[in-house]
Amino acid sequence: MKKIEKITINSIKKFKNRNRKITALTAYDYSTAKILDEAAIDIILVGDSLAMVALGHETTHPVTLEDMLYHTKAVSRGVQRALIIADMPFLSYQAGLNEALNNAGRFIKEAGAHAVKLEGGYEHIIEVTKRCTESGIPVLGHLGFTPQFLLTIGGYNVQGKNLEVTEKILEQAHRLEEAGTFGLVLEMVPEESAKTITENINIPTIGIGAGRFCSGQILVTDDITGKYGDFTPKFARKYADVASVVREAVTSYKNDVLIGDFPSDVEVFKLDEDEKKRLAMLKPEK
Ligand code: KIV
Repeated sequence: MKKIEKITINSIKKFKNRNRKITALTAYDYSTAKILDEAAIDIILVGDSLAMVALGHETTHPVTLEDMLYHTKAVSRGVQRALIIADMPFLSYQAGLNEALNNAGRFIKEAGAHAVKLEGGYEHIIEVTKRCTESGIPVLGHLGFTPQFLLTIGGYNVQGKNLEVTEKILEQAHRLEEAGTFGLVLEMVPEESAKTITENINIPTIGIGAGRFCSGQILVTDDITGKYGDFTPKFARKYADVASVVREAVTSYKNDVLIGDFPSDVEVFKLDEDEKKRLAMLKPEK
């Protein structure tokens, strides 16, 4: 059997240095993760977007550490090749260094993740990043639009629309790089700003709504397959309409059941002839 070459954080760094684009998508369950892995996607992110996409919340805020661990475990059972990164949920890494380190460690020890992702570039996030990487937990940073800051940002707004904000993001990117992050998600940043940031740091950038010049791209799988329809961002390309396919399939099933066309003769289990005769002689007690 051919040996599977696993993607590591070193592979990700090498891809950037060789100008080979990094591919990344989200997964929250075993079967989706397995499909992504078979398609040789480099990074599978158990994003906290699962709060909205899989659990039906309006924002990413309500998802808990236990939810994220549960889904990361399911994803890791489906993956042989990809680098699995788990999003640390809102307030699981902001309240103190020890708590952050212990929570991050659970993704590695219990859930099979290879790295964690932390949103933001403020001082306390930089400290947590340093503590995690120095303890052996690789960290992917996340700057630009950071959904966990939705309430302080005030809406789903593009970040880095002027020089001052781009400089601030670049400064945070430098500090995160110094603290040990192996890569950086850049979300909803104009492509010129994302290009400047990408060219001025040594670690790879993985863009989502950040244009063509990042070292790689990430999207939410349910957006590109058309499974999640509540909201489709401008930057997500829809490659399939899975919702329609599933809707059609379940409607056909429902109609077949209603008209007695399901199950058919080949979809049932049968008794052998002797048992059939014995059953025919059964006289149920009144
Ligand atoms: O939670 C998420 O899905 C993300 C994105 C970068 C895809 O953070």
